[in-house]
Amino acid sequence: MYKKEDQKSLYELSKQLLKTEGIPVAFEAEQQVEDLRKAIVYHEWKYYIQNDPVMSDFEYDTLYKRLEALEKAYPDFIQPDSPTQRVSNDLTETFESVEHLIPMLSLANSYNEEDLNDFDTQIKKLTLLDENVDIEYCVEPKFDGGSIALVFENDHLSRGATRGNGTLGEEMTNNARVMKSIPLKAEFSSKGIAKAELRGEVVIRKDIFDKMNADREAQGLSLFANPRNTASGGLRMKDPKEVAKRGLEAFIYQLGYVVDEEGNNKMNAFKTHDETIEFLGSLGFKIPVKERKVCKNIKEVHDFILEWQAKRDAYEYEIDGMVIKVNSLALQEKCGYTSHHPRWAIAFKFKAKQATSKLLNVEYQIGKIGSVTPVAKLEPVQLAGVMVSSVSLHNEDFITSKDIRIGDTVLVERAGDVIPYIVKPMEDLRDGSEQVIDFPKNCPVCDTKLERAETEAAWRCTNYNCEAQVIQRMIFHVSKDAMDIDGFGKSYVERFFEMGWLRNIADIYRLDYEKIAALEGFGKKSAANLEKAIEKAKKNPIHRLLHSLSVHHLGKKVSKLVAGEIDHVLELQDKTIENFTEIKDIGPVVAENIIEYFSNPDNVNLLKEMETLGVNLRQTEADRPKVVDANAPLVGKTILFTGSLQKMGRKEAQTLAENNGAKNISAVSSNLNILVVGEKAGSKLKKAQAIGTVEIMTEDEFLELIG
Ligand code: IVH
Repeated sequence: MYKKEDQKSLYELSKQLLKTEGIPVAFEAEQQVEDLRKAIVYHEWKYYIQNDPVMSDFEYDTLYKRLEALEKAYPDFIQPDSPTQRVSNDLTETFESVEHLIPMLSLANSYNEEDLNDFDTQIKKLTLLDENVDIEYCVEPKFDGGSIALVFENDHLSRGATRGNGTLGEEMTNNARVMKSIPLKAEFSSKGIAKAELRGEVVIRKDIFDKMNADREAQGLSLFANPRNTASGGLRMKDPKEVAKRGLEAFIYQLGYVVDEEGNNKMNAFKTHDETIEFLGSLGFKIPVKERKVCKNIKEVHDFILEWQAKRDAYEYEIDGMVIKVNSLALQEKCGYTSHHPRWAIAFKFKAKQATSKLLNVEYQIGKIGSVTPVAKLEPVQLAGVMVSSVSLHNEDFITSKDIRIGDTVLVERAGDVIPYIVKPMEDLRDGSEQVIDFPKNCPVCDTKLERAETEAAWRCTNYNCEAQVIQRMIFHVSKDAMDIDGFGKSYVERFFEMGWLRNIADIYRLDYEKIAALEGFGKKSAANLEKAIEKAKKNPIHRLLHSLSVHHLGKKVSKLVAGEIDHVLELQDKTIENFTEIKDIGPVVAENIIEYFSNPDNVNLLKEMETLGVNLRQTEADRPKVVDANAPLVGKTILFTGSLQKMGRKEAQTLAENNGAKNISAVSSNLNILVVGEKAGSKLKKAQAIGTVEIMTEDEFLELIG
């Protein structure tokens, strides 16, 4: 929407405005308020629409605060479309029922190429075109959020509403005003349009959704089920300030209604759907750009859909399909509408990510530290191409908060690579035969009474020798994260346990490879491979061994910290809580767990046995902490390498940086101090340049800096 030269002058204006201070006299203030408005609207567009900010958050905030201060000193200069007027303190939504200017219809669905071809044939019939003529279509994602309709009158946002029943929606103008991807002012008048209604979908970026849920989890709040509910629920919040916090964005996908001052239809200002969307983009709305394509025939449509189906999980937003629209507005008019949907458009639905199934039973799995996880056994059901029959129910609170019962029909969802989860039971389908899930009081494997600490969500079996725990500890011990014994997985552990060969982790190192070779499905070669992998694991640095012991909270990082403090694992028998908590980043809880582990003679004996069997218990080079000199050149700096480095590998560069006191981070933001650019550096470099505070250097300059 902004021309290059306009962008440049707005950028310079912003820099100038950043330098101004104090409250000027009225006539100067009026000009400044106007300049600030213009500059801030521009930066919001760069940030929310273009995803390409040219100023740091700090600089943006400074401009915003200055505008607030001037508007406070001179309230007469406040314009309703000022960025500060998005949120007002005392507004709440009333959700009054309002009539859409034209009904918000739904879409017909298609699921495969054949359906698409039928649609194409139908369009040719409706428009009286020959079978051999190609129809041009505009294709864009079917965003999965909540739909909204926005009315603009005389270039100002005058109303926002939800879809409602299609004819009547709920008014939510104040909520729409807080979404920074929706301009408060847009120059429809440039095309002689006095009143317009646009349709769009309010969505939330997947990473923002994940972060929001992680924060909620940390605060002990209930989690949002998925991005769609979070977005559509967000539209209906009473307090616009809360809406603002959700980080919602509106993609505009249709210009529904346009009239001039006399009320005459102005749709004839456009020839194609694509042109209307492009126009809305030029007015500052968020529109699908890389996500939208004009296809010259239905074959190209199908190809584009397949492309997006493959990209779907990697895309920033949830989409549940693509929408195919006849591009020519004249042809659209010929096609017309049913009472339910336009005949000129169709949705292509990707494979379902949600399905319903019956909950047959609940089983309980015991983890390596005794945590009891309830698992729902379902009637097998297809979900996004995968058969699902087992879904975790996490813990007792999850079951009670959702009131999930055995015999319930449940809604299951699988988003992206995420493991499937139960969204809710379908309470309306109950017939009274469903049974409330009775969480066990005793361990289903060893019958020990379960316990639950106040601060934890899980019930635990406290019997350290519980068979289930012993097996889980062995599975963890051999896993990639722990001792990393190649080829040794869960099924081997279970099988060898059944054979009576494994009773504890020491037994792993006294396996009889001849016997293994004789087992069905093994043979000499796989037994020899296993032996090789186990021999290799014996030499592991002790931080791996410590982590592999399944001591609660003794994760990878703490294991490394502990390993750095000792010469031999058995020294840990003589440590006190203080010895541990003196180490930075080690807290009293894990300290106590380590002490408890090493005060049990069975555990000490187990480790001694392992040492006799050849497992390394001594500190190795890899365990030794890297000592960073307080005067090292990069102390306190964050660093990021981008592009292809010529003199060293990426890992090597990162280690060098770390050894010189720097912290490697993975994204360019205002927190980044140094960006080292190799060949073919791309978007990261651009972004760092735009931020302006990042020190940018070449590989050679970096090497010189660290000497
Ligand atoms: S066009 C008259 N385009 O899908 C044409 N709809 O069943 C009506 N949706 O809830 C819709 N992305 O909010 C259209 N690119 C897109 C869309 C889209 C998402 C939603 C829409 C409605 C549903 C239609």
